[in-house]
Amino acid sequence: MTSWDPALYLSFDDHRGRPFHDLLARIGARDPRRVVDLGCGPGHLTGLLATRWPGAELTALDSSAEMVAAARERGIDATLADVVDWTPEPDTDVVITNAVLQWVPAHPRLLPAWIAALPADAWFGLQVPGNFAAPSHALVRELLDQPRWRGTVDLRGDDAVPEPGGYAELLAATGAEVDVWETTYLHRLTGADPVLAWISGTALRPVRDALSPAHYARFRAELAPRLRAAYPHRPDGSTWFPFRRIFAVAHTR
Ligand SMILES: C[S@@+](CC[C@H](N)C(=O)[O-])C[C@H]1O[C@@H](n2cnc3c(N)ncnc32)[C@H](O)[C@@H]1O
Repeated sequence: MTSWDPALYLSFDDHRGRPFHDLLARIGARDPRRVVDLGCGPGHLTGLLATRWPGAELTALDSSAEMVAAARERGIDATLADVVDWTPEPDTDVVITNAVLQWVPAHPRLLPAWIAALPADAWFGLQVPGNFAAPSHALVRELLDQPRWRGTVDLRGDDAVPEPGGYAELLAATGAEVDVWETTYLHRLTGADPVLAWISGTALRPVRDALSPAHYARFRAELAPRLRAAYPHRPDGSTWFPFRRIFAVAHTR
């Protein structure tokens, strides 16, 4: 299982939080009984669910002990659990899962079962990165394919998540109303190696887990110039980081 560092993950919280707001804007629930945050992470966004629906019971779960501890420190009653083992309780009117299901290879099989188990007039909203072919990920895979790194880390490929049309078909087959879209955010980052810093909190976690600290430092040193060439500094020192994200909402009838 991938290890997580809540502080490192939160270092881009303004940029990373944006899709959560955009996803939430398309959830029409007025007075839900239970709201679930699947893969709640450090809980800073879970709190927004409580603010929007103060009358709802909130369920938050995550499979990382570090993330659950960070969420609890924020006052979120998070539970340590794997989404694979989760099934909706009968009063579940809203489910949000933001930037999680790309880590769950079984999710295309789980989604129809989750939605079928929801009551009528319930909402299921998901967001996953759609950038596995972008240089930020492709360069990591390319480097891991060099003889000196080959076989050290098992990384997810370009097929980690379905395309928007794939989600639309999956969700439409449940009979729910479906709303699917994608957005490419153009994040303006600052700092010496901002894309390396960004992916260190997410996509590079499995690499960090698989390598010794010395090898991980060497891997990052080899990756840094490649990322710098793909995402050059602008004259003012900032760096544009395009990030495609896929959103899907199902509203049960
Ligand atoms: C990129 S973070 C997103 C956290 C939060 N949803 C947010 O939007 O900031 C991914 C989270 O998914 C969790 N996660 C990954 N696989 C999971 C699984 N199988 N079950 C539960 N949580 C999982 C990780 O522990 C991590 O906290």
